[in-house]
Amino acid sequence: MIRDLTSAIAAAIAALAIAGSAAAQDQLLDPNTLRPSLDPARTVNGLAQTPPMGWNSWNKFGCNVNEQVVRDTVDAIASGGMKDAGYQYVVIDDCWHGTRDADGFIGEDRAKFPSGMKALADYVHAHGLKFGIYSDAGAKTCGGRPGSQGHEYQDAITYARWGVDYLKYDWCSTGIRNAEEAYALMADALRATGRPVLLSICEWGNNRPWEWASKIGNMWRTTGDIRDAWAGRVTYSLGVMDIVDRNEPLYPYAGPGHWNDPDMLEVGNGGLSDTEARAHFSLWAMMAAPLIAGNDVARMSEATRAILLNKEVIAVDQDPLGRQGRRVRDDGDQEIWSKPLADGSRAVLLLNRGAAPARVTMNWPEIGYTATTRAAVRDLWAHRDVGRVRARYAAVVPAHGATMLTVRP
Ligand code: GLA
Repeated sequence: MIRDLTSAIAAAIAALAIAGSAAAQDQLLDPNTLRPSLDPARTVNGLAQTPPMGWNSWNKFGCNVNEQVVRDTVDAIASGGMKDAGYQYVVIDDCWHGTRDADGFIGEDRAKFPSGMKALADYVHAHGLKFGIYSDAGAKTCGGRPGSQGHEYQDAITYARWGVDYLKYDWCSTGIRNAEEAYALMADALRATGRPVLLSICEWGNNRPWEWASKIGNMWRTTGDIRDAWAGRVTYSLGVMDIVDRNEPLYPYAGPGHWNDPDMLEVGNGGLSDTEARAHFSLWAMMAAPLIAGNDVARMSEATRAILLNKEVIAVDQDPLGRQGRRVRDDGDQEIWSKPLADGSRAVLLLNRGAAPARVTMNWPEIGYTATTRAAVRDLWAHRDVGRVRARYAAVVPAHGATMLTVRP
């Protein structure tokens, strides 16, 4: 009897041990347990409670960026009204890099940046702005400069010493690297410096970053590169409408601290008419997108300035509720978009993709109000109160254009 009991207990213990090790093994094999984004201790850095605003060198200057361009841009942003409108980060994109030293620390290209990055960062900060830089999770950047792979902690230290506040981290030359691991590693390296650095994830939406990046970075590109055109894809580059159609369905993933990034603005770069540029800027605001100007802000036209500095449209982008707006009606070339705002009102966009002007009517129930509601309508491009109206609002929207409103019950 006792022997029976003993052997039964021994058998039970053996079974438990097997079950335990099997469970432990399962856990090891479960890819979810290895995912940094599932670590409950991981948080974002508290930055970007509203979508980041600033300027980036790439769309206009590409690899020709240099110290003079950046200084001119800083002067223009600080004194020309952009800073007051909320533009804050001055970001140098690809091609600033020199070589690594004998210990592996990265240096700047001194021919293009004769004063060095530290001095340039000081210049940016002295103007009350923040300083951003670019690197890549692979061996080389997209422009063929040294990437950060294998040098993540060293590069983070260098950036912190220079005074970097924002890192755009690209995805060229990454081979079979796992994106979540690569971005988490750089996020950890930046965090370890103790300097708050906004992390802009740029892997073009290849690995669905909206599903894992909210505890790793502050924004993630959702598409290939934007091109300075209303519509149409050319290899990896997409027109404004093509980007909109890819970024719109991702609205549930955006929120304070972590935003969908449909790429930098092309306003003022020459490929869009002023009407198209207003629609582009309006859509980015409706999508709570980062507003990163991509033009030569030191030499822009008055029309471009009026677009980038429309504070009413910017306020929609920067609304503290942090909800990404979405398309609520699609009639082909005409669309209605709605974005809920913190005060209970809505920003509304009437979009006309067609080649001729079109009359577009939006009905209150489409934006979540009953038809009997009386609401104050304001036109954000005309800067005009339209009046208090019931049930619906109609406007003639120009070809390739948008009418942007707030509707406030
Ligand atoms: C990629 C990025 C762009 C830009 C270039 C620089 O294409 O998506 O935004 O940073 O690299 O080479």
